[in-house]
Amino acid sequence: MIKVVLFNGSARAKGNTYHALNVVKEQLEAGGIECEYVWIGQEPLLPCKACFKCEGKRRCSQENDKLNEYVEKILQADGMVIGSPTYFADVSSTVKAFIDRAGMVDRMNSDMYKYKVGAAVVAVRRAGAIHAFSSINNFFLINQIFVVPSSYWNIGIGREPGDVEKDKEGIQTFENLGKNMVYLLKKLKA
Ligand SMILES: Cc1cc2nc3c(=O)[nH]c(=O)nc-3n(C[C@H](O)[C@H](O)[C@H](O)COP(=O)(O)O)c2cc1C
Repeated sequence: MIKVVLFNGSARAKGNTYHALNVVKEQLEAGGIECEYVWIGQEPLLPCKACFKCEGKRRCSQENDKLNEYVEKILQADGMVIGSPTYFADVSSTVKAFIDRAGMVDRMNSDMYKYKVGAAVVAVRRAGAIHAFSSINNFFLINQIFVVPSSYWNIGIGREPGDVEKDKEGIQTFENLGKNMVYLLKKLKA
């Protein structure tokens, strides 16, 4: 079965990132894709130490948090969705630590995530989301992960938890993203 892991890097368990990811997840499941949802937003994730001890090991040398668990989940899946709120015009610090460490483990080990499929989902109150969106996509692109397109950039507008449901174009964008991810995964796995 084709599998996608969805990471939510928002500090709020049921915030707008959660709601946006859920829209994508519903479309993935409707397309027969197995989904695993993982909330990482309140898990302490230390920054990358730049020790490069991950080289040849397929895991991060810092064993005192859940990063290696997340790397395993990526490896076991065919695709991933990374969701982040916009914090000061970028991803949350949790998502940044995730990208830096999971990304370096990949690069020091012959691009382990190569040919997987990736999609970014971003929640925002007003501005800065496109930069957060780019930060996640840059992780995919340098790691040879196919980036899924949609009918707009994958950004949902909202301030209080659940507000994003009122952003009709945002919800449509997330629905199309989910459908396109199903399409791409099925083509790649055919
Ligand atoms: C630390 C912090 C920084 C934020 N920075 C921005 C920002 O730069 N631009 C913006 O439009 N909203 C900003 N916001 C608002 C959130 O992006 C917005 O409420 C979003 O819906 C949160 O997603 P969530 O519900 O999944 O946590 C910030 C919120 C916090 C807590």
